[in-house]
Amino acid sequence: MKLGEYKKGEPTCFIDAFIQRMETEKKNPEVFSNEAFLVVVTDLFTAGVETTANWLLFAILLLMTHPEKQEKVYQEIQEKVGDRPIELEDRKDMTYTEAVFLEVFRWGKVTINLGPRQAVRDFEYNGKLVKKGTSIVPNMYSVYDNKIVWGDPNVFRPERFLTEDGQLIKEKAERIIPFGLGKRVCLGEMLAKESGFLYLTTLVQKYRFELPDNISRTLASLKLVEGITTCVEDYSAKLVKREKLN
Ligand code: HEM
Repeated sequence: MKLGEYKKGEPTCFIDAFIQRMETEKKNPEVFSNEAFLVVVTDLFTAGVETTANWLLFAILLLMTHPEKQEKVYQEIQEKVGDRPIELEDRKDMTYTEAVFLEVFRWGKVTINLGPRQAVRDFEYNGKLVKKGTSIVPNMYSVYDNKIVWGDPNVFRPERFLTEDGQLIKEKAERIIPFGLGKRVCLGEMLAKESGFLYLTTLVQKYRFELPDNISRTLASLKLVEGITTCVEDYSAKLVKREKLN
C-alpha cells in the first residue's frame, strides 16, 4: 500500500479513520458527512499550518541572529545524535534544544492571544467584578514580557530555562503556554511539538543559518506582524551546508 492510499479496514491516519467511519456510521450522517469531512480537514490545516510555520520562521530567525545559540543546538545534536537521522526519541535527551523551543515561543509570542473563553458565573478578580457571559481573551504579554519573572524579557536567552548543569527548570517551562490550557487546549499540541523538533533539529544538523552577506539587518529592525498568530515580516537567510555531513 502506498503512503496516503486508503485501504478499507487498515486506517493509517486520522483521514483514513474518518473515511472508515463515514462508511460504517451511515446512521449518523450529520457527524460523518462529506461536508463534515471537509470542515474537519480544513480546520486542522488552518489551525496547524500557520502556527507551525510561524514558529519555525521565528526559530530560524532567532538562531541566525544568535549564532552562538545556534552552535549550542548543533553541539547538542552532535553529542546526542551525531550525523544519523534525528528521531523523536532523541528529544528527551536534548534539554538545550527544548529550552530554545520554549524561548522561541516566549520571545516570538506566536500565540499571544489564546482562545476566547466565557465566564460561566459572576466572579471577582483583582477587586473587579466579571459578569457571567463576559468574553475573556487571555493576553500573554503580561506573562512573556514580565520583567519580574524573566529579568530581561527582550533578550533571546534559552539558558533562562536551564539550571547551571543544563536541567530544564520545570516552573519556568510551565509558564510558556502557547497551546492554551484546559478542555479546549490545542488539538495538535503533540504534533506541533514533535514536528517542530524534527524540522528545526534536522535543519540545524545539516545547515548553518547565516545573515545574507548583503543584509545588515538586526533583529531589532524586524517588525512583528500581529494577527490571530504573530509572525515576523519577510526576511532572507543564507544556508551554509555543514561540512561534517556523510
Ligand atoms: C506551533 C504550533 C501551534 C500552536 C502555537 C497552536 C496554538 C493553539 C491555540 C493557542 C489554540 C487555542 C487553545 C485554547 O483555546 O485554549 C489552538 C487550538 C487548536 N489547534 Fe493549535 N496550535 C499549533 C498547531 C496545531 C496543529 C499542528 C494542529 C492540527 C494539525 C492544531 C489544531 C488545533 C485545533 C483543531 C484547535 C481547536 C481546538 C478546540 O477548540 O477544541 N494546532 N491551537
